[in-house]
Amino acid sequence: MDINSIQAQIEGDLAGVVSVQALEEVRIKYLGRKGLISELTSSIPGLAVEQRGTFGQQVNTLKNKLLELFEEKEKTLKTKSSVLKKSNLDIGMPGIVQELGHIHPITQVIDEICTVFNRMGFSVVQGPEVETEYNNFTGLNIPLEHPSRDAFDTFYLKDYSKLLLRSHTSPVQVRVMKTQKPPLAMVVPGRVYRPDAVDASHLFMFHQIEGFLVDENIRFSDLKGILELFAKNVFGRDIRMRFRPHFFPFTEPSVEVDISCIICKGRGCSVCGRKGWLEILGAGMIHPNVFKQVGYASDIYTGFAFGMGVERIAMLKYGINDIRLFFENDLRFLRQF
Ligand code: PHE
Repeated sequence: MDINSIQAQIEGDLAGVVSVQALEEVRIKYLGRKGLISELTSSIPGLAVEQRGTFGQQVNTLKNKLLELFEEKEKTLKTKSSVLKKSNLDIGMPGIVQELGHIHPITQVIDEICTVFNRMGFSVVQGPEVETEYNNFTGLNIPLEHPSRDAFDTFYLKDYSKLLLRSHTSPVQVRVMKTQKPPLAMVVPGRVYRPDAVDASHLFMFHQIEGFLVDENIRFSDLKGILELFAKNVFGRDIRMRFRPHFFPFTEPSVEVDISCIICKGRGCSVCGRKGWLEILGAGMIHPNVFKQVGYASDIYTGFAFGMGVERIAMLKYGINDIRLFFENDLRFLRQF
């Protein structure tokens, strides 16, 4: 056996020793009467005569080295234990378990939805929560005196009347289209703010996912196909969809999109208000005035956009009846996801 590797092995054993008792066990293993060293010594007579001298010497050096190592180790162990005794430190006390957190249910739903769109070729982008009044309204065909500003009108930054907390993720449409040319397909998750009174279905802050696609020859049927794929992926194969005419200043035509109630499958229950349908998003074909604002030729390009509330979708998906639960940091609630 190679003497050097034996020493390395013993040093390894010693490094793992944390008590005087364990040290004694290692000592017996190597230096005991039936230990490795005495085994090596008793093998000497069996060697060829010319090898005996050098080997014997090597074993001797190893033995001395070991005695030294053990003595050193014993010293450190003893000083350590006396320090421990003096400090009253209880090394037998169980440690504090570091609990590992997990992804918040809202983030989980955002990730899931973005992944579905990503697979269909949409890239995921984000925009700032502090927006310009222009991107949030004017660029989206909501001029200063437009009545639809009312529902959206939001938190303006003091002394910066042109800056506000965005009331929807649609301003990211303006940002992207001002800097990139079609074809483009994006989804935009993020926080939005509205001056709503807080109740079981309203918060002053919530999350939306915006989606938009612009190219030549994009039709309303493309929007329908994409949204249907999305709904089936997120809510299940047998979900049905319904498009109702609606109004948004930045899309024309505009729709609100319902899915068949996932609780009662369309028969009518308390969740869907006996209607059998649940509203999940707003959508439409991007208004030519928006294209004009961003400098796209609306005789060449067409596109669609949609926007959905993440909390609402999470509530439907998991059967949650109070939006406030998401943001109270109650672990009994959060641990369920
Ligand atoms: N921005 C709209 C809202 O917050 C949703 C929407 C987005 C509607 C895109 C149509 C197209 O209500």
